[in-house]
Amino acid sequence: MASEIVTSLEYLAARLEDPQAQIYQYLYRQHPEVRPLFVLDTDGGVRGAMLQTTIETILDYAAQDRLDHVSLSAWRSHHVAYEVDPELFTRFFVIIRDCVKDTLGHQWTAAMDLAWLDLLRQVEASENG
Ligand code: HEM
Repeated sequence: MASEIVTSLEYLAARLEDPQAQIYQYLYRQHPEVRPLFVLDTDGGVRGAMLQTTIETILDYAAQDRLDHVSLSAWRSHHVAYEVDPELFTRFFVIIRDCVKDTLGHQWTAAMDLAWLDLLRQVEASENG
């Protein structure tokens, strides 16, 4: 089931030359208030590392069929210092899903939808520790 997530990410990579630009465009459109948080990241390096860690978390979830709550909670706590609350932190996963879904268009399947919903539910559940 979770392998559907991997397939959807492979399609994304095949379709977009620069998924990072697209994903951050989605983030800024839905949450314009976070743009100033990245003002010191002039070369996009921090945003690249952040996206990479998030994708690794997703791929690890797909491989293990479970979320690494410990490491995710640690990242979530780190973000309190950046004024990113736990709900906003979770939104990054939702934004990636939205970007994949819109980009895939007719290639997006019901199985992918369910697999992503499962993941998002678990990420949300980890907000409380
Ligand atoms: C919308 C949600 C999020 C916002 C607004 C956000 C914001 C930020 C900010 C402001 C920084 C620090 C920038 C700086 O050092 O100048 C940062 C760093 C980072 N974030 Fe996020 N974050 C979000 C979600 C996530 C998620 C879900 C993950 C991973 C699961 C993540 C992983 C990281 C990592 C690894 C760094 C450090 C990168 C580095 O310094 O090399 N972030 N984030």
